[in-house]
Amino acid sequence: MSAPARVLVTGHLGYLGPPVVAALHRAGHEVAGLDSGLFEDCALEPDPPVPTIRRDIRDVTPADLRGVHAVVHLAGLSNDPLGLLAPDLTHEINAAATLRLATAAREAGVRRFLFSSSCSVYGTTAEAWVDEATPPRPVTPYAAAKAAAERGLAGLAGPAFCVLSLRNATAFGYSPRLRTDLVVNDLVAGAVLRNEIRLLSDGSAWRPLVHVSDLARAFALALDAPAEHVNGAVLNVGADAQNYTVRTIARTVAEALPEARLSIPGDAGRDVRSYRVRFDRLHRLLPEFACRVDLRAGIADLVAQYRRVGLRSTDGCVRLEHLKRRLAAGEVAADLRPRLPAPAAAAAAGA
Ligand SMILES: NC(=O)c1ccc[n+]([C@@H]2O[C@H](COP(=O)([O-])OP(=O)(O)OC[C@H]3O[C@@H](n4cnc5c(N)ncnc54)[C@H](O)[C@@H]3O)[C@@H](O)[C@H]2O)c1
Repeated sequence: MSAPARVLVTGHLGYLGPPVVAALHRAGHEVAGLDSGLFEDCALEPDPPVPTIRRDIRDVTPADLRGVHAVVHLAGLSNDPLGLLAPDLTHEINAAATLRLATAAREAGVRRFLFSSSCSVYGTTAEAWVDEATPPRPVTPYAAAKAAAERGLAGLAGPAFCVLSLRNATAFGYSPRLRTDLVVNDLVAGAVLRNEIRLLSDGSAWRPLVHVSDLARAFALALDAPAEHVNGAVLNVGADAQNYTVRTIARTVAEALPEARLSIPGDAGRDVRSYRVRFDRLHRLLPEFACRVDLRAGIADLVAQYRRVGLRSTDGCVRLEHLKRRLAAGEVAADLRPRLPAPAAAAAAGA
């Protein structure tokens, strides 16, 4: 689909949303968003202006998707801690509702469906390196739901419906909808706000990283990739050179902010989620893609952005905490459907 298309981005009010919407706009596409608004009030800056459907993906019907050429599906419970909050709902939203949404899209005549999956499906690996041929070994409900959705989606692919699962590395970098429950963003926030870089584990686990702007560009390029090459595929998104141990990430943050104290608690346990990922298929299927922002550059930009927006706390930037607060306040029902529109955006900056 190289011509400009009408693209619906689900979950556009999340961390990846604004950079993905911006990348699609740059590629000339017309963009609308669909989001239930679980974190609607968590924005440091205004969102790109796009027509918005405020709906849960569990409630979407083909009628909502008529006239849409492509769906970029970001909506979901998007990390391991959130997945552990309600494993059943994680399966319901991240796997079952994803397949329901894709089925509705196919019925409505949508031509392409991009799913935001995760390298976390690799879980704990015995191999030194993993790629798309390595059988997933998810170790959390979040990762298991992503793996189940990928399998189901591959079965929906057909000549008129091109489906692609992007298995993203862990994202880092500034977004107007900042999250600090991501390793790099968290360590930089601790260094900037408290002069402290504190690990929660012994730091030996491997993580592939990808800058949020590179990830957004990968989605835009994946919309244009020839269907005969990508239909039904799973694609790791990141860069071989951007696999790091958490300890190395912490040391790189410490080099950028030498006034901050690096602490690794003596009793910190090992994180069993550890995987080193190869990205050869990405370069074969999306040959124009290369990561442009490496860890050092991404950290320097984060520091500059935190200072630019005057970040004073990470309130509203940690998804599990924020969701628990909204559940306790009755703003979100137990089935994780928001009951009320979130209050006006309360930015952590200066809040
Ligand atoms: N950020 C990363 O490092 C990363 C890495 C790999 C994969 N992913 C995947 O990319 C996607 C986006 O990630 P993110 O970091 O922007 O997440 P996020 O939590 O910041 O945003 C997710 C958005 O989805 C919406 N949402 C959640 N459940 C919904 C539902 N039932 N119906 C409608 N909307 C719903 C939320 O309101 C939120 O705005 C997720 O699927 C995530 O699993 C993210």
